[in-house]
Amino acid sequence: MQPAVNIAVRAARRAGEIIVRSINRLDSIEVTAKGRNDFATEVDRAAEQEIIGILSKAYPQHAFLAEESGRTGDSETVWIIDPLDGTTNYLHGFPTYAVSIACQHRGRLEHAVIYDPMRQELFTASRGDGARLENRRLRVSNRPGLEGALIATGFPFRAHADYVDAYLAQLKGVMQATAGVRRPGAAALDLAYVAAGRVDGFWEFGLNPWDTAAGALLIQEAGGRIGTLTGEPYRLSPHIVAGTPRVYEALLELIAPHVPQALRNT
Ligand code: IPD
Ligand code: CA
Ligand code: CA
Repeated sequence: MQPAVNIAVRAARRAGEIIVRSINRLDSIEVTAKGRNDFATEVDRAAEQEIIGILSKAYPQHAFLAEESGRTGDSETVWIIDPLDGTTNYLHGFPTYAVSIACQHRGRLEHAVIYDPMRQELFTASRGDGARLENRRLRVSNRPGLEGALIATGFPFRAHADYVDAYLAQLKGVMQATAGVRRPGAAALDLAYVAAGRVDGFWEFGLNPWDTAAGALLIQEAGGRIGTLTGEPYRLSPHIVAGTPRVYEALLELIAPHVPQALRNT
């Protein structure tokens, strides 16, 4: 494992400890509503501080783009951090959430760590060096198309709730063509599961760089594809489709015709 990944893994595990430590006192966790159905808790903030503390001690010159504290520092190397992806699940005691950390250098994703503290599963990737679950090398599934495929998704909410009709048209097509659709509630884990072959594809709109950066590298290193809803290359894009190469193509065919005008070219 490369040194930067080692340090990010240490940071992700420490954040995981903070997250797990509070699951028996969910009722007393301090919650702030950042917007409608958009929550941050003291746990999100404490986990993020821990991660940034560990990374900035090792790399004082690097910059950070983190969900709760925003952009800090100025460097060609940026750590992109979601300290707790799946906060709504977490607050409900629904045990599907993760820590997501990616490292980008000169605009290119170099390293990725996604850690699920409930299952204690650690997903890692470095560019050109493959993706792993613990020590096991990951490959996307060998599903040749949508027939029999299991697809993960995220429902549009917050500002994107207005596009629900377009989304439902996409969902209808995908439901009719596949074995099933799941909405687990943590985009970083959804993407890690594409890399691990546990689902064959994924799509969602309205995501942030910290939701997708680590998962995108995992998928690419596991032989999968990720791009925008209209098939453009992924560049920390908010509206994304991912999957095995053939599932990616097939999903795009169903989804692209129903992309709202306002979301095209983004
Ligand atoms: C959310 C989760 C969810 C996705 C949302 C994200 P958060 O992240 O990834 O699955 O549907 O769009 O914002 O807010 O829990 O870190
Ligand atoms: Ca998130
Ligand atoms: Ca989060």
